[in-house]
Amino acid sequence: MSSNAHVPVLLGPVLEGLNIRANGCYVDGTFGRGGHSSAILERLTADGRLIAIDRDPQAIASAPEALLSDSRFELIRGESAQLEKFIDERGLRGSVDGVLLDLGVSSPQLDEASRGFSFLRDGPLDMRMDPDAGISAADWLARVDEKELKRVLKTYGEERSAARIARAIVAARDEAPIETTVQLADIIAAAAPAHGQKRHPATKSFQAIRIFINGELDQLKSALEQSVNVLRKPTALRSGGRLCVISFHSLEDRLVKRFMREASREPEQYRGMPSIPAEYRPRLKPIGKLIEATAAEIAANRRARSARLRVAERL
Ligand SMILES: C[S@@+](CC[C@H](N)C(=O)[O-])C[C@H]1O[C@@H](n2cnc3c(N)ncnc32)[C@H](O)[C@@H]1O
Repeated sequence: MSSNAHVPVLLGPVLEGLNIRANGCYVDGTFGRGGHSSAILERLTADGRLIAIDRDPQAIASAPEALLSDSRFELIRGESAQLEKFIDERGLRGSVDGVLLDLGVSSPQLDEASRGFSFLRDGPLDMRMDPDAGISAADWLARVDEKELKRVLKTYGEERSAARIARAIVAARDEAPIETTVQLADIIAAAAPAHGQKRHPATKSFQAIRIFINGELDQLKSALEQSVNVLRKPTALRSGGRLCVISFHSLEDRLVKRFMREASREPEQYRGMPSIPAEYRPRLKPIGKLIEATAAEIAANRRARSARLRVAERL
């Protein structure tokens, strides 16, 4: 397999979690290299439909011809935080049988040095999933003040040495602009050496900067909310639509877990009341427990080691 391939994680559990109906309508909010999309499409008949979204123009450009020429499939370049708009434009609100969000970066994004995501491959410090939107990590690091930088490293990287790393970055950029991934990784490693840890000392800082630059947690919050709004409500003949979310770090997973929990119960003031106004009734029910990859999947695909899948159904 080429290093540019992206092996879909937790594929079996995702297909099961989506509870695929052969004539259903599905949304893949994070198309990537289309691993999950292809597998979903394989399970749909001619009446089925799959709408996929990705904000990364390279992901869009790399979509296989077999998918693009399939009339059941549509690929949209955009943010999953615009999901509701895309679905409304197609008149599909309330007809969506399943939404998948497979968060974070794809293997090709990490592998491609020019995207600037990886401290292991030297490249321009960019980190934008959509290089046409927002500012690059290099431009942000050139301007951000030390306090804000420390906050970002702490909040989005849960980096204990945030203060030391922020100080070192600000001191280094006064000497010379920080323009490449390895330059930044070296500054971080010198400020906060690994001390016997398995992970590279820059892992958490890179994660933090990437999450911040791409507004990933805000994107996720909107995508979750909007997914629930477009999913099919249950009828006597058909169960409600499913939401499947795969996260790769604790910040994302905590957000997903909390969202699903809150949406699965009435607000505190209505708990235990005999009648609850419709708008305050639970909108989701959790399906099963947290799902993680098996040892065999992790052995075959390292990216699966931190994957966590949560599934919920529209009420
Ligand atoms: C982990 S990969 C998905 C891999 C995909 N499931 C597969 O099997 O090939 C995540 C993808 O989602 C995209 N992405 C992440 N956040 C996004 C967002 N908020 N809106 C749209 N696309 C997003 C990234 O650009 C990346 O291509």
